[in-house]
Amino acid sequence: MQHSKIAGIGMYVPKNVYTNTDLTNFMDTSDEWIQERTGIKERRYADRTGETTTTMGVEAAKIAIERAGITPQDIDFIVFATLSPDYYFPGCGVLVQRALQMKEVGALDIRNQCSGFIYALSVADQFIKTGMYKNILVIGSEKHSFGMDFTTRGRNVSVIFGDGAGAVVLQPTSKEGHGILSTHLHSDGGDAELLAMFNPGTHSNHWLDKKLADYDEAAIGETFMSHQMIDNGQNFAYMDGPAVFKKAVVKFPEVIGEALAANNLKPSDIDMLVPHQANLRIAQFVQQTLKLSDDKVYNNIQKYGNTTAASIPIALCEAWEAGKVKEGDLVCLAAFGSGFTWASALVRW
Ligand code: UT7
Repeated sequence: MQHSKIAGIGMYVPKNVYTNTDLTNFMDTSDEWIQERTGIKERRYADRTGETTTTMGVEAAKIAIERAGITPQDIDFIVFATLSPDYYFPGCGVLVQRALQMKEVGALDIRNQCSGFIYALSVADQFIKTGMYKNILVIGSEKHSFGMDFTTRGRNVSVIFGDGAGAVVLQPTSKEGHGILSTHLHSDGGDAELLAMFNPGTHSNHWLDKKLADYDEAAIGETFMSHQMIDNGQNFAYMDGPAVFKKAVVKFPEVIGEALAANNLKPSDIDMLVPHQANLRIAQFVQQTLKLSDDKVYNNIQKYGNTTAASIPIALCEAWEAGKVKEGDLVCLAAFGSGFTWASALVRW
């Protein structure tokens, strides 16, 4: 049966580097705290004007398209994963179609946060398998620096996230045992409010029942976004970090195990694990659980922070460019995040 392969990969990160020490100018934090709890040393922030989630995605896409040996006019479908779109609507997919002067192809936006890229990859994989499309552009891109609280109130979130983009082109292959072997997608909305941005949104007060007491009850409903909601910080991401951490260290190994079992493989068959870059401590825990050596796990959260939907394609691209992902290698992608949603993919490079 026809299945899909990654025919080209690209990444883009903004040039502006912000170290942990730079952040101490805005909030009560320290290089020591951030490195010890997360592994992050620095991250990139997009230019305030001119550089958006879409423009970064387009830069990554141009490289992926060129490396696939095609042109933007050959792309027949776009899948764009982000939680920080240029507009509330329309999504970034159509903006990519416009920017790259593509044909009037379909453009789908995916809202699955940290696991967004693997969800996007999975959707694209299905379209290739059915024979519907031949050149699908999959992008993960984030401009977090526009949606974070850079005061001490928001420090548990804002020190973690950074901006950037990654992209791949998927094409069909009939080479047996090559390309995307399988993808595995999961969700559990029971704790949806533990990692969320509440506005703009149409929610009523159900999440306030969870005792997110920092918020003013008067600022509920009636409009997507009010001055009061902004005063309450409801336009910034909320995260119960320890709760997310505890769930992540269970679900990462679980969903990787599911992918291996589905392909009759074992952890020692993995040549390169590229985990979503949420926290170096989470990645190290997963590495130990699977008994993988250091050269079989790729981490770059130290340089870029957590770039959510972009983190896996950026890390995969860097690993490939460094020659750490070679033809024939078994690559495992895995992610966990807001929703909660989690996912994995196995790729024979
Ligand atoms: O990609 C999406 C999925 N996200 C994740 O997977 C994130 C998972 N969670 C985490 O990575 C960790 O929970 C964090 C890095 C977010 C936080 O680390 P933690 O070790 O769980 O710290 P904590 O939230 O329990 O906070 C410990 C202390 C608190 O102070 P008190 O109450 O002990 O006095 C916080 O107020 O650290 C304080 N704190 C900070 N201190 C300095 C929180 N953020 C900061 C900060 N700088 N930036």
